[in-house]
Amino acid sequence: MSSTDDLPPALPAMWRALKRGYEAAPLLLSVAFGLALAAALPDALLALWFKLLADGVLGGRRGLVVTAAVGLGVSAAGTWFLRVISDRTQRRFRDQVTIALESHVAWLQASVATIEHHERPAYLDRLAMLRNQVFVLDHMYMSLFTTCGWILRLGVTVALLVSIHPALALLAGVALPTVLTSTWRPGVERAAEERGGSANRLARHLFDVATTAPPGKEVRVTRIGARLVAQRRAAWERWYGPVARARRRSAVWHTLAWAIFGAAYVGAVVFVASVLAAAPGDVLLVLAAGSRLSAYIGGAVGEIGFLRGIWLEGSRRLAWLEDYAASQSHGADAPVPAQLGEGIRFEHVSFAYPGTDRLVLDDVTLRLAPGSVVAIVGENGAGKTTLVKLLCRLYQPTRGRILVDGVELARMPPDAWRSRLSGAFQDFCRFEFRVRHTVGVGDLPRLDDHPAVVAAVDRAGAADVVAQLGAGLETQLGPTWPEGVDLSFGQWQKLALARGFMRERPLVLVLDEPTAALDAETEHALFERYAAAARRSRPDRAQPAADGGITILVSHRFSTVRMADFIVVLRGSRVVEAGTHEALMAQGGHYAELYRIQAAAYR
Ligand SMILES: Nc1ncnc2c1ncn2[C@@H]1O[C@H](COP(=O)(O)OP(=O)(O)OP(=O)(O)O)[C@@H](O)[C@H]1O
Ligand SMILES: [Mg+2]
Repeated sequence: MSSTDDLPPALPAMWRALKRGYEAAPLLLSVAFGLALAAALPDALLALWFKLLADGVLGGRRGLVVTAAVGLGVSAAGTWFLRVISDRTQRRFRDQVTIALESHVAWLQASVATIEHHERPAYLDRLAMLRNQVFVLDHMYMSLFTTCGWILRLGVTVALLVSIHPALALLAGVALPTVLTSTWRPGVERAAEERGGSANRLARHLFDVATTAPPGKEVRVTRIGARLVAQRRAAWERWYGPVARARRRSAVWHTLAWAIFGAAYVGAVVFVASVLAAAPGDVLLVLAAGSRLSAYIGGAVGEIGFLRGIWLEGSRRLAWLEDYAASQSHGADAPVPAQLGEGIRFEHVSFAYPGTDRLVLDDVTLRLAPGSVVAIVGENGAGKTTLVKLLCRLYQPTRGRILVDGVELARMPPDAWRSRLSGAFQDFCRFEFRVRHTVGVGDLPRLDDHPAVVAAVDRAGAADVVAQLGAGLETQLGPTWPEGVDLSFGQWQKLALARGFMRERPLVLVLDEPTAALDAETEHALFERYAAAARRSRPDRAQPAADGGITILVSHRFSTVRMADFIVVLRGSRVVEAGTHEALMAQGGHYAELYRIQAAAYR
């Protein structure tokens, strides 16, 4: 696991990010880089023009004075002019590269095959930092160009100093501690920030809960507002305390390093003026170049610090995400069957959620026959949804395996498998699109297939929801959008169910309490219709359209459950009973007991 847990090495990661920028806008990148270097040069030559000017004036050499004056003028104007066009070019490059990188990161995140990365705290913190950094990743190219510009200036300046006396090169050496502290600083600070990442996430979450609309009702009824604020404050301080300490410590070292350089600069000027008894022009050059030296080193160091802090770290996270996304479907080369002949088998499947030890499913062995309607029942937290998620390949079993027509599910490419799945989930998503797209995204290739959308809406019993909306299927959903409307929970759920019915012949249709918000009668009628249709497509009926698709139904309503061909009873993460309604009733076990309790309650 450590290969996906560790961040990849910094320099190769940076190189990869650089290549991404080049791919996004090759010409702009080259021009921006060239201009950044060209803009750096005139500035560095200023010290030379000062020296020549002093030499000319003191020696009464007119030609030299004119040369120096022209040099000064060209340098000043050139610096300004090149900076302006270089800024413009860089801005254009940044606009293009930002959008390319943002899309890249969003695409990568969405293409990760499992959802583990949304649940492991270490990954979450990493992704949160990457999400924040993707907006500044574009600055980093600029930063790299600028760094090169500073290094060029620095090189020219050191060369000028050495022309006076080789020992003056030492001045650059004395600046080394400032470089070291600057490069070391951001890493230390960032590590402290990342260590407290979960406290920071908690603080943000509490802020969202306290200030956003969806939790608003409960926050007011329970009156937990003040408590949320206090908890948020505490979480923030847990994050900020260590971060502030790390920042203070690194600032002290940094200041010390700069103090050493300042002393050396003064020493160098005194050395040239009194020990070398140099000409005034040379002293002027050392004064000007030396003072520039501190600015250049400061610039280079600051820029390198920025690069290290954000780009190196940002590009490492980006490279990690790229590798992680790629690792997910590695070695998955088995084709997904066109239809199910043998069905799906769970062989001793156990599962614990990432980062936890508790087995949520424990040694589950099951056979799901092709063309059957399978109901899963059990108390809250028994593991029903988890079983469904494993089947959707959102997680890998911790132990054991799932076989689809005898082939291990883990060997099938997640995308190919999922394109044959369909379903409605307990915690469905409210896609705030126009209704026809909110439903249509259930089968992307037929997103705009009007009859298909209408049919799915009908099958889900959602026609009444659509009929009530002003613009029917064209209605914009989501109250924050222009002319957008909000729906009740049950209405949203019906649309989610319709979305689940968009794919016509899935190998597995998952219905994880998709109708919990509907009344029992509606649910019953819906599933009766649905189960009848599903049975018609069984392979043993020798119909041309028979593809053995399996329907998995999770419900707490036994009136619905009893219609299933096969009922799986989960209890305390294990399968305790499985069979038909009649068989389970005859067995007189857990199922029979639960069934009687519910039936009695309805009488
Ligand atoms: N993302 C998660 N990370 C860690 N533990 C989880 C996660 N999701 C669920 N669990 C745990 O796994 C167990 C089974 O949850 P699951 O959602 O499968 O139950 P369920 O049978 O679907 O319950 P319900 O009837 O309430 O929907 C629960 O104890 C829950 O705490
Ligand atoms: Mg559930």
